[in-house]
Amino acid sequence: MPFTNNRAFKSAPRLLVSAEGMHYQDADGRQILDGVSGLWCVNAGHGRAEIVAAIREAAGILDYAPGFNMGHPLPFALAEKLATILPEGMDRIFFTNSGSEAVDTALKMALAYHRAQGEPERVLFVGRQRGYHGVGFGGISVGGIAPNRQAFEAQLLPHLDHLVHTHDLTRNAFSHGQPTHGAEYADDLERIIAQHGGSRIAAVIVEPVAGSTGVLIPPVGYLDRLRALCDAHGILLIFDEVITGFGRTGSAFGATTFGVVPDLMTLAKGITNGAVPMGAVCAARRIHDSVVSHAAPGIEFFHGYTYSGHPLAAAAGLATLAIYEHEGLFERAAMMAPTLEQAVHTLDDSPHVIDVRNMGMVGAIELAPRAGAPGARAGEVFMECFRRGVLVRQTGDTIAIAPPLIVSAEQLHEITGTVRDVLAAVA
Ligand SMILES: Cc1ncc(COP(=O)(O)O)c(C=O)c1O
Repeated sequence: MPFTNNRAFKSAPRLLVSAEGMHYQDADGRQILDGVSGLWCVNAGHGRAEIVAAIREAAGILDYAPGFNMGHPLPFALAEKLATILPEGMDRIFFTNSGSEAVDTALKMALAYHRAQGEPERVLFVGRQRGYHGVGFGGISVGGIAPNRQAFEAQLLPHLDHLVHTHDLTRNAFSHGQPTHGAEYADDLERIIAQHGGSRIAAVIVEPVAGSTGVLIPPVGYLDRLRALCDAHGILLIFDEVITGFGRTGSAFGATTFGVVPDLMTLAKGITNGAVPMGAVCAARRIHDSVVSHAAPGIEFFHGYTYSGHPLAAAAGLATLAIYEHEGLFERAAMMAPTLEQAVHTLDDSPHVIDVRNMGMVGAIELAPRAGAPGARAGEVFMECFRRGVLVRQTGDTIAIAPPLIVSAEQLHEITGTVRDVLAAVA
């Protein structure tokens, strides 16, 4: 099983058998309130009839069409629709089947672009400590979560460096929204530029809000500073928006919430509301045009997946975007964000809590690690919340809360109330 303690799971499985709205039902028939949108992906809530109908219809019309030198209408329609909510000009879209594939695709696009521009020596990728970019060799190379890399360290990409992370509890603990201190962490890119030479760096990749490492919210001005440094040195900026995309931060994308436009953006998860696997890379038009116009006759980009733009995924994506639009779910996220902020900060003085942070429809409660057993306390909190009927996400010693954007105020308080009761009970 993926990222699972297999031995423990098999001795006490937790099986979810159905879902509707804000709730899962488990194999024992219990209702579980979904405090984390499945795995940060079910932004419109579970069991959406429109998405189910679109998938059914697509499957009945065209089960599969090859994407290599052939096409079918649905992914083009989805790309056009996506372009209407993406930052202006980021309208060249390549479909994948996951966030990991989107990340590897974006890294390849960065290399292809620099070659097309006559700068083939730009090969170095810069990630960030504690970053998560999926599990391909590209993604773990630019990623910065130690256990995800350790066993594979011998075969990571060869030209790499990492920015320092931005987590700074001495200055920013218990921030509401973006932390005030720490824009200068972006200047760590200057150290990397001085060390390797700016003209050797292909791209910097960051999550606007680092999710999987435990919700690290960018300090005010940090992303702007990264953007300015990249621009000054001809470096591409990639935003990995697999988690921050589709309303999570209170608008369509992190790029729109923070007002910083990258050159490439990776998406997945909420693109289909989690209903069919799909990812995407969105590229600024000039990147696409450069690669395509400088290529020798024939295939311009030697990359792609059997299931890129699969009919069922594209149909699910179109139905999902229609729901986001018709129900105004990104606006709803912005409207509910203050309620989430208030609810999570009621945990500020709960036992073991060393930080509470929030942004849009995501919140995190960081616990003091138990001596000699990092992650154990939060792991117990996760298990006990589940036993009490609330699904949250544990990563390290942080509990993350990221409910579907349809969540009610009462449900938000039910989630944080359960976490509070569990914190009072856990050792
Ligand atoms: C920022 C980010 N990038 C990439 C991924 C990988 O996505 P997937 O699990 O679909 O490969 C994730 C997954 O959580 C993610 O949060």
